[in-house]
Amino acid sequence: MPSHPDGGYRILMSAPVIIAPSILASDFARLGEEARAVAAAGADWLHIDVMDGHFVPNITIGPDVVKALRPHVDIPFDVHLMIAPADPYLEAFREAGADLISVHPEAGPHLNRTLQRIRALGAKAGVVFNPSTQPDIIQYMMDDVDLLLVMSINPGFGGQSFMHSQLKKIERLRAMADAAGRTDMLIEVDGGVNADTARLCIEAGANALVAGTAVFKGGPVAYADNITRLRGERAAPAAL
Ligand code: DX5
Ligand code: ZN
Repeated sequence: MPSHPDGGYRILMSAPVIIAPSILASDFARLGEEARAVAAAGADWLHIDVMDGHFVPNITIGPDVVKALRPHVDIPFDVHLMIAPADPYLEAFREAGADLISVHPEAGPHLNRTLQRIRALGAKAGVVFNPSTQPDIIQYMMDDVDLLLVMSINPGFGGQSFMHSQLKKIERLRAMADAAGRTDMLIEVDGGVNADTARLCIEAGANALVAGTAVFKGGPVAYADNITRLRGERAAPAAL
């Protein structure tokens, strides 16, 4: 089991907006260094995109890579499973160090059971909404989920353009969560998030943002400023 000191507590304590750099956009030959660099630059979580070449048309990493990364940083690992089925791999990702595990409802027949399994393993449970996935699927399961992850692109690749059509879904999910008394709900957005679209997501009700390209562009010297811009703050002025 992961044993980093916050025990998952910081997952809900990081405020006001959680920034989760996606290592999909990092240098895969230097993953450990890249994870340390974004953590030192102020990242709240590390977003890890797991793809199987079946559920999405790309293949990335498995539990062994997550396990190898775990000792490098103590920020929570936000593991986005783009695999089908997901259930047989939940335990392996949790044991590798995942703190949050998110699944697509289309990846299996029993979403509620999958969420129960994730929580039983001691992780936070997330549901991912593809651009075509209806928000209503979660309506009667609000107490069974910790994180709602809205895809603002079709999953599989970084570097795509933000779909503004998904802002309404963020608003709708926030309203549904509030109506269910879940004002603490984590609503995260993934895909094409940059300083401009980040602001729109936050205004719509998001409190966590995934960003690959927008964090990793410019290399390690730029990471802190890139993260600052995503928070809606000004980057530090260049040194004279
Ligand atoms: C794509 C992944 C995203 C991706 C986002 O399927 O889920 O996390 O890394 O990349 P950007 O921020 O470049 O759109
Ligand atoms: Zn992702």
